[in-house]
Amino acid sequence: MQSRIIIAIDGFSSCGKSTVAKAIAKRLSIKYIDSGAMYRAVTLYFMRNDIPIPDPEELNDFPFDYLSVLADINITFKVNPETGLSEVILNGENIEQFIRSMEISEQVSHVSAIKAVRKKMVELQQREGNHGGLVMDGRDIGTTVFPNADLKIFMKADPMIRAERRFKELVAKGVEITIEEVISNVVGRDYEDSHRVESPLRKADDAIVLDNSHLNQEEQVDFVVKEIEKLKVGC
Ligand code: DC
Repeated sequence: MQSRIIIAIDGFSSCGKSTVAKAIAKRLSIKYIDSGAMYRAVTLYFMRNDIPIPDPEELNDFPFDYLSVLADINITFKVNPETGLSEVILNGENIEQFIRSMEISEQVSHVSAIKAVRKKMVELQQREGNHGGLVMDGRDIGTTVFPNADLKIFMKADPMIRAERRFKELVAKGVEITIEEVISNVVGRDYEDSHRVESPLRKADDAIVLDNSHLNQEEQVDFVVKEIEKLKVGC
């Protein structure tokens, strides 16, 4: 059971989903996939190649054939032997270092609302889970990508606490940014991600809520481990 387990972790931006997901993957020796990194990779490709990105209000009748562009995009993952973590490869190039910038963060919600983009990413994500043994985080993993996941966690935290965490991370990386810019990005993405037509961010009915506003990393991991143990007892 454990090695084939599929765990879906969804939730709002900058909730610490990937930190928890990575720790769980390590604990269970299973694969971790950051589905947001895939949407970020597509966004990078669009920006580098001047592919038009529609605003939410233009989305319905935006005159552009995304299918042919998407056919040129190949996204895979490669494990970094030093960290043991999967890194995103876009058409053969490791793009990990480029996809966390504010420029990408500002466009990624627009790109991830495009129907053809979602269809392709969901297919790729489902393929990663073909053999089980996977923890994947994102916005629609428990609702659309793996509706039959063994365990679904829905993470949330106070938006100001999330923005402060993100702000500290960016400043530590040397990014010049104000807290107001980070708040606006976090709140804006929450809104767009949960109001889009195609698989909006929402809690799956059978997901367990983890509000980590006042929990440290260890407490969050313990919370998820306890839920995994309950599954084992049930088997
Ligand atoms: O997890 P993240 O912040 O890196 O995700 C970046 C964006 O990608 C997020 O604002 C919405 C989108 N996304 C999505 O629509 N569906 C997913 N499963 C994962 C991310």
